[in-house]
This record gives sequence, structure tokens and C-alpha cells, in this order.
Amino acid sequence: MYVADDKRYDSMQYRRSGRSGIQLPAVSLGLWHNFGGVDNFENSRAMLRRAFDLGITHFDLANNYGPPYGSAEETFGQILKKDFLPYRDELIISTKAGWDMWPGPYGNLGSRKNLLASLDQSLKRMGLKYVDIFYHHRPDPDTPMEESMGALDTAVRSGRALYAGISAYNAKQTSEAVKILRDLGTPLLIHQPKYSMFVRDPEQGLLDVLEKEGVGSIVFSPLAQGLLSDRYLKGIPSDSRAARDFFLKKKDIGEDKLAKIRALNEIAGQRGQTLAEMAVAWVLRDPRITSALVGTSRVSQVDDNVAALKNLKFSAEELRKIDGILAGKQTN
Ligand SMILES: NC(=O)c1ccc[n+]([C@@H]2O[C@H](COP(=O)([O-])OP(=O)(O)OC[C@H]3O[C@@H](n4cnc5c(N)ncnc54)[C@H](OP(=O)(O)O)[C@@H]3O)[C@@H](O)[C@H]2O)c1
Repeated sequence: MYVADDKRYDSMQYRRSGRSGIQLPAVSLGLWHNFGGVDNFENSRAMLRRAFDLGITHFDLANNYGPPYGSAEETFGQILKKDFLPYRDELIISTKAGWDMWPGPYGNLGSRKNLLASLDQSLKRMGLKYVDIFYHHRPDPDTPMEESMGALDTAVRSGRALYAGISAYNAKQTSEAVKILRDLGTPLLIHQPKYSMFVRDPEQGLLDVLEKEGVGSIVFSPLAQGLLSDRYLKGIPSDSRAARDFFLKKKDIGEDKLAKIRALNEIAGQRGQTLAEMAVAWVLRDPRITSALVGTSRVSQVDDNVAALKNLKFSAEELRKIDGILAGKQTN
């Protein structure tokens, strides 16, 4: 029987999500990869246990995580039942709908039909009465935003979710969503954008909107799917995400990118960190970021990513060097 570590709250840092009552761990764990029906169940279970033992109280899912679609929620449901039910009230569990999930016109995007039917399916797969956060996974250009936000409001009012979130909305869309949800009486808790040293779009206005509106941010792929680690310094390992050549493409790991990764790796070494640790620390250097949402393929990566919290401070000189490397000037 799993008994969580007594010391699990001793060293994790928690950050408040905007102007809300919810604090999230500075590092959260996502189940997009390595928790599907095709993956090793005991490895998935070991990563979740280790994460919780280290104070990671937030696990992030979506309807179609797997493969196959839905299977990450099923795996999570089984592990919840075996290990985490006594700790349910210590956990923030999220799921999402808005990407393709089932065939036909109602299994995708932002209709009320899709969002609420998908949430019901997710609850069933995970064996949960409610999720803590329910997200619209991406904006839908063809559905009125009032309809998608109205579905999030219904999810919360009906008790299937405690809080509402959005993902991949740009700054303007986010301002609109904030207003609609506020008028409905279900304030937006959190936004989930992609953010890393390699993908800096949220700096172009989104983070300002979130700060002004009191909305938190949990940033996904802070390691750029593993590129910002020591995994690829000597080529593409056969057990890596890039080797599967699907979500992370081999063709995107050219010499130019590798040169940047190697230069960043040197800066990380000078800071006494692995590159993965520095990548996590780098997103968290901004107090507007509530949590770094990482993925892992093995327990040691959970430890490594949490170890980032030992050094979140960057000198102006380090930040200047990092910006130089990212801009293609090898200044370190
Ligand atoms: N809202 C959205 O649209 C959206 C989209 C994508 C992701 N997400 C969420 O964000 C979560 C994280 O995304 P992500 O998995 O792309 O994040 P990531 O942390 O950038 O990448 C995770 C991958 O990096 C490698 N890695 C992790 N820690 C490492 C370490 N310490 N040392 C070396 N390599 C390490 C592993 O790759 P290997 O497997 O190669 O070992 C791991 O699978 C997802 O699970 C999901 O919850 C949301």
C-alpha cells in the first residue's frame, strides 16, 4: 500500500494562481505522454507517487491524452484508486476538452455539446465526481465565445468542476474570455500557455493581461518537450520523444538548435544546474508564472525538475547571455 511521504510539504514552493484561493506547486506534472495505454503502468505509477512525495499536488490531463485517446485518464483513474484516494482533497486534478476526441461534429472544438459531454466522459474514465480545473483546450474560431465560456460556467455550477481554465487563447481572446466568465460569475482561475526559452509568445501581451486581470498561468512544455535538457547533446536517444518523431520532430533538431542547446547547457553548468533544471527555473523567474507544467518519462526526471527550485534567481548577466544564445549570438 502506498503511504505518501510525511515530508511532502517541507520543501515544495507553492504559488497563488492570480487573485484566487488556489495555490499550485511551482512544478506540476502533466500526463500528456508516458501515461497512455501503450505505456508501462508501473512506471507511470512510480512517477505519480514520486511527484506527490515531493509536494507536487497538481496533475494535469486532457480527454485525448494517451495513446489511445482517453487512456491517460484511465491510467490515472486506476492509480488514483490504488494509491491516491485517501489524498483526493490534497490534489488539484485538471482535464480539458477542445481538441479532437471522438468522430463527427461534436467531438472537437468549443461547442457546449462537446465540452460538457467530454467532461462527463473524463469524469467516468478517472472515476472522479469532479475535477478541480476544467479547461477549454483551445479557442474555437467558429463557436461564439459566450457558448464555450457558458459551458465552463455550467461545468462549475453543476459541480463537475471547481474552477474554469483556458489554454492557447491569445491576449485578446483571453481578455474577452475573462470578461464573459466574470459576468457569468465564474472567474477564470488560470490560463495554460506554451512557454519556454524556445517559445516566448506569452511575453507579447498575454502575461500582462493575466496579471492585470488576476488570472494565474501554468506554462506547458517548459523544457520544449525535452530539447532543453541534456537528452539531445549527443544525438537523438532511441528512448526519447524525438525518436518517436511525432510531436517532437527529428527535422526540428538541426545543428542550429543543437548549438543553442549546448551553449545553454554550459550556462546551466555554471549555475550548478542541469539544463532541465535551468529551463524550469527560467520560466519561474517571472513571478507572473504560477507553475511550470512539466512532463516526465522516468522518476529521475521528476526529481531533477523539482531540484530546479533550489535556484530560481538569474543575474542580469545570465539573462543577457541566455537571450544572446537564443538570438543566435553565442555570447557565453
Ligand atoms: N494545453 C495544451 O495545449 C498542452 C500542450 C502540450 C502539453 N500540455 C501539458 O503540459 C505537460 C508537459 O508538456 P511536455 O511533456 O511537452 O513538457 P516538457 O517538460 O517540456 O517535456 C517533457 C519531456 O522532456 C523530457 N524531460 C523531462 N524532464 C527531464 C529531465 N529532467 N531531464 C531530461 N529530460 C527531461 C522527457 O522527454 P523523454 O520522454 O524524451 O525522456 C519528457 O517527456 C503535458 O503533460 C500536458 O499536461 C498542454
